[in-house]
Amino acid sequence: METLTHVSELRERLITARQAGQRIALVPTMGNLHDGHLSLVREARRHADLVVASIFVNPLQFGPEEDLDSYPRTLAADQRALTSEGCDLLFAPTTNELYPAGRDGLSNLRVPGVSEGLCGGRRPGHFDGVATVVSILFNLVRPDVACFGEKDFQQLAVIRKLNQDLHLGINVVGVPIVRAEDGLALSSRNGYLSTEEREVAPRLKQCLDALKVQLERGVEPAASLRMALAAISESGFKPDYLELRRASDLGPITGDGCEAIILAAAHLGRTRLLDNLKVVLPTT
Ligand code: PAF
Repeated sequence: METLTHVSELRERLITARQAGQRIALVPTMGNLHDGHLSLVREARRHADLVVASIFVNPLQFGPEEDLDSYPRTLAADQRALTSEGCDLLFAPTTNELYPAGRDGLSNLRVPGVSEGLCGGRRPGHFDGVATVVSILFNLVRPDVACFGEKDFQQLAVIRKLNQDLHLGINVVGVPIVRAEDGLALSSRNGYLSTEEREVAPRLKQCLDALKVQLERGVEPAASLRMALAAISESGFKPDYLELRRASDLGPITGDGCEAIILAAAHLGRTRLLDNLKVVLPTT
């Protein structure tokens, strides 16, 4: 696998690929790759001749109190993992290379509606940072297909709207959450958990499973959500939010038979965990 760090090299390499008629897939990441990321690479492979991954810890999407400096950076291990998955090209630019105008002088993209509430409500500016870097990567790579994990379900909705609003014509593919055997959704931030916290962490998914059963039995959503929120707190988490939204666009649920999604964020010690689960609300 080739690793490129300069925009000019990437452009040149991709011109050659396009001239050869290759279909290009992009897997944008912030590195510290786990099996969730590698499942994106596997999915990308199914859609394209040339699989490009990117690793860039994007400062624009971290708030002032967040973990930008301590975010795990494991380039050599990531390169090995991508190579063994058959990824063709890694783009791993520095911040200066990607943002030569500097952080403050940079054009900024905002995706209204879907960026608001949930994680967007708790992390102001986060999705503007995500939308901005993803647009830059889309412009540089001009992929036919781009793969993103469903664990960051709101992020996926933001990127789908961005793709639609800007008429980019990219096939944005959402890839199901990869879980540890005990149900914990894989995340780079799981590495922050202490041994004791790691034992508690799967309870978040267990609470979502129990909530799904209630909702699919037809128990009233507001009451079910209140009970599940209490269960999450009692399990040792400090919940950020627990919400039920329409799965297609994160709008409000529209009643019977609606394909909905439970979205949760909760702190366990200093680690913020995200999870979600789809449910089909029964018709009455
Ligand atoms: O999901 C991530 O790792 C990041 O938010 C992304 C999409 C690579 C943008 O920096």
